[in-house]
Amino acid sequence: MNADPETPVAVTVDGRDVTIGSGSTILDACRAADIETPTLCWAPNLTPVNTCRVCVVELEGSRTLVPSCSRPVEAGMAVQTDSERVRHSRKMVLELLASGVDLAQADELAGWIDHYDADVERFGPSVERIDEPVRIQDDLYIRDYDKCVLCYKCVEACGDDAQHTYAIAVAGRGFDARISTEFDISLPESACVYCGNCVGVCPTGALQFKTEFDLRVAGEWRPDDQSLTTTVCSYCGVGCNLELHVQDERIVKVTSPEDHSVTSGHLCIKGRFGWQYVHNVEPGDSPRE
Ligand code: SF4
Ligand code: SF4
Ligand code: FES
Repeated sequence: MNADPETPVAVTVDGRDVTIGSGSTILDACRAADIETPTLCWAPNLTPVNTCRVCVVELEGSRTLVPSCSRPVEAGMAVQTDSERVRHSRKMVLELLASGVDLAQADELAGWIDHYDADVERFGPSVERIDEPVRIQDDLYIRDYDKCVLCYKCVEACGDDAQHTYAIAVAGRGFDARISTEFDISLPESACVYCGNCVGVCPTGALQFKTEFDLRVAGEWRPDDQSLTTTVCSYCGVGCNLELHVQDERIVKVTSPEDHSVTSGHLCIKGRFGWQYVHNVEPGDSPRE
């Protein structure tokens, strides 16, 4: 094994030569070759957990398809990202996901569902769904587990990859598997510290800022009309960068750049949710008041 992750390694992706550091993944090599690859459970600021398999590629010499997001490159690898086998597998994964989960707000997946011509009705309407009311237990974020694809991103962000709070985990097995607090107690009673890092990484809207949720319910969520302003958090000396999403001259949510050297996209409760003073309203008041 090569100890230096920067040692150049030569591979081919769809016949294109790519030279990339040995610490890279096949997904990195695909991106270096300008080949778009769907991902769902992967994020640049989280450890890959390999739960979704939407990123699979064909690797010469490998009996099975391999997840590009986590498989490290090796010298001489020949990768195919658009073979019949890969297209078939990605399409099937998307169809299976859509059969059990409400993907209406999974914007990135929508493009891939179109791309692979996935039939989201293929497995019929009677498949198992969580199908429970949206959980609204505070003024900061909501949980809508009918939209949860069990990608584990929130678990990673709450645990080893960012917050180290471990307030949520996957409970149950098989069809009963779901994201849960300990003993399914309410969020305010749980170990959650409301950093919102789980909300920041959720790809489907299953975890969602309450401000965004309220605007969506009112039919007023308009991302195309929103501006993004990057600033520095005013609360403490850590110096986190905040991205203020502003619609109609009101902050509607706060994120942080995934590639920022201080935050890696993660924040604490103050930077993430403590912006009401800008509009001189109390937490829980509508941002429109
Ligand atoms: S709540 Fe969101 S981030 Fe967490 S597992 Fe479900 S889809 Fe993934
Ligand atoms: S987000 Fe939290 S840790 Fe970061 S600068 Fe603001 S108060 Fe400090
Ligand atoms: S993105 Fe690679 S397994 Fe989910």
